[in-house]
Amino acid sequence: TTAFKIVLIRHGESVWNKENRFTGWTDVELSEQGVKEAHAAGKKLKSGEYTFDIAYTSVLKRAINTLNIVLDELDQSWIQVDKSWRLNERMYGALQGLNKSETAAKYGDDQVLVWRRSYDTPPPPLDETDERYPGKDTRYKGLTKEQLPKSECLKDTVERFLPYWNDTIAPTIQSGKKVLIAAHGNSIRALIKYLDNIADDKIVSMDIPTGIPLVYELDKDLKPIKHYYLASDAELNSAIAAVVNQGKAKPQN
Ligand code: 3PG
Repeated sequence: TTAFKIVLIRHGESVWNKENRFTGWTDVELSEQGVKEAHAAGKKLKSGEYTFDIAYTSVLKRAINTLNIVLDELDQSWIQVDKSWRLNERMYGALQGLNKSETAAKYGDDQVLVWRRSYDTPPPPLDETDERYPGKDTRYKGLTKEQLPKSECLKDTVERFLPYWNDTIAPTIQSGKKVLIAAHGNSIRALIKYLDNIADDKIVSMDIPTGIPLVYELDKDLKPIKHYYLASDAELNSAIAAVVNQGKAKPQN
């Protein structure tokens, strides 16, 4: 039986989602569309009478601002919010900033699909001298050298996310607190892969839409019983198709 209900939400469309660029740890803003998505998500949660006791998010503004808008729509801006790099998007390495369609045209759709969705193939790494390398970013000053990623495959993201889930989020859920997690496409894929124990080859076909609340109902051991998006099938399918099509050489309209 359902013991706990948590809500996950990927940030609304970001400026680089809109420009179809690999983003990773680049701290880009929400697009206007993304802000609208965040307001709509908050309204949807409110009409569903969802309330939360605590929220978790990353240290990237597209997730933080999505969370702030959602909480404001719920009139719950007052709840505790914990931010951690461990909820950051997967670090896309030397792909960060590149256009996804151009990259697919250059290396092929299949190679881009492997970089975007495989479990254990990392994108090309950043050199430490690259200005995209996060080593000088003060928000990561507490990280050790080996924790600072030059690139991450999804397996790496799962491994750096899990300590936060096991030590902080899971115990909070099991204490009975209602939890909201505002994160990123691949850090949510990492959580879902772990929660639902999805096989490495199956996670390739999972895409997370922007700005649509995803409810997970969990048993007392935090094993998922069911999950559902708060959206119509039509809305959900078009939002997911938009994410899938980013990785194709020709933008599909
Ligand atoms: C990014 O980091 O570019 C996006 O947030 C996720 O990108 P993806 O859907 O290509 O993995």
